[in-house]
Amino acid sequence: MNNVIVTGGCGFIGSNFIRYLLKNYDDIRVINLDLLTYAGNQTNLSAYQFDARYIFTRTDICDKNHLNQIFNNHKPTAVIQFAAESHVDRSIEDSMPFVTTNVNGTVNLLEAVKKQNYPIRFLHVSTDEVYGSLDEYGAPFTEKTPYDPRSPYSASKAASDHFVQAYHETFGLDTVITNCSNNYGPYQHPEKFIPTIINRALNYMKVPVYGNGMNIRDWLYVEDHCAALCAVLFKGKSGQKYNIGGDDPQPNLEIVKTILNKMNLNVFENFEFVEDRKGHDFRYDINSIKIQEELGWKPKVSFEEGIEKTIEWYTANQNWVRNTLGKK
Ligand SMILES: NC(=O)c1ccc[n+]([C@@H]2O[C@H](COP(=O)([O-])OP(=O)(O)OC[C@H]3O[C@@H](n4cnc5c(N)ncnc54)[C@H](O)[C@@H]3O)[C@@H](O)[C@H]2O)c1
Repeated sequence: MNNVIVTGGCGFIGSNFIRYLLKNYDDIRVINLDLLTYAGNQTNLSAYQFDARYIFTRTDICDKNHLNQIFNNHKPTAVIQFAAESHVDRSIEDSMPFVTTNVNGTVNLLEAVKKQNYPIRFLHVSTDEVYGSLDEYGAPFTEKTPYDPRSPYSASKAASDHFVQAYHETFGLDTVITNCSNNYGPYQHPEKFIPTIINRALNYMKVPVYGNGMNIRDWLYVEDHCAALCAVLFKGKSGQKYNIGGDDPQPNLEIVKTILNKMNLNVFENFEFVEDRKGHDFRYDINSIKIQEELGWKPKVSFEEGIEKTIEWYTANQNWVRNTLGKK
C-alpha cells in the first residue's frame, strides 16, 4: 500500500481528488491534512470515514513540527499540495493569509519532504492565473508563458510555484507543477462564481455579474481535473510543469445565460451587473497540448454535460450549501 499525503483534501478539488483516487486505485492509502478553514468541510468525504484507506488529520501546513511527525509516521511516497487560500476577492480584502498558507505553507511542505531523505513525488496544484491576463488577441498560455500575476491570490500562487521549482533545481526534489483553468462541479464553495449563479437562481435572487460580463474564462469539470492530476502524478516528468484546461473559454455572461436557461429562468430578469472586481483580469485561455501529447490526457466532460450535473448536485444539496455558508 502506498501512502499518499493530500493537503487541503476537505476543500472543493481536494475532496473530489481523494474520491477519484480511492475509487480508481486500490493500492493507495490517503492521508488528508486539512486545517478545516471556512473552505474545508470534513463531511465532503464522510463516505470514507470508516475506510481503512482513508485517514484524516486536522493539520495546518504552516505547523512544521506537526508536518514532520506526520511524514515520519506515514512515510509517504507522494504529496499532492492543494491546501491554499483560494478566493481572489478575499485576497483583495486581506493578502496576509494568502502569503501565510500559499507561500509559507508550501515551503514548509517542501522542507518536510526534503528532510525525509528518500524520493517523494511532490505534485503542486496551481492555477493559470499566474500567467496574468490576455487581451482579445493574445495566444493561449503555454508552459513557457512568463508569469505575470495580477491579484494577491495569483501572486501568492506564483511565488509558491517558484519555490517548488527552486526546490527541484537546488535540492533535486521530485516535483511536478500543474496550472489549471477554472474548475466547476460538486462541492465547490458557494462563494465562487458558478455555485453563486446556481444558488441564487434556486432561491429566486438576482445573479450578480461583475462589470459588463465580458471577462473570459476557460472552464474544466472537476473530475477531468482529477484525471489530469493523476496522469501528472503517475506519469509526469520530474521538474516539469503541465497546463490543464477545458478548451472551452467563454465570457462570464454566457455562463450566466446558459445556467439560467437550463434552470428554466428568464435570463434578462434574473441577473444584474455589479461594480467590477478591482484589477479584474480580462481573459484567460490555456494551451494544454503538452499534457495531451505527453501524458495522453484530455477533457472528457463537455460544459453542457458538466453544468447539468453541477446544477443537479446543488439542487439536491441545498443543506450542504447552507451549512457551508454558515461556517466561519
Ligand atoms: N478552484 C479552481 O478553479 C482552481 C483552479 C486551479 C487551481 N486551483 C488550486 O487548487 C487548490 C484547491 O482549490 P479549491 O478550489 O479546492 O480550494 P478550496 O478553497 O475549496 O479548498 C482549500 C482547502 O485548503 C484547506 N486549507 C486552507 N489553509 C490551510 C492550511 N494552512 N493548512 C491546511 N489546510 C488548509 C481548507 O480548509 C480547504 O479545505 C488551490 O491550491 C488552488 O489554488 C483551484
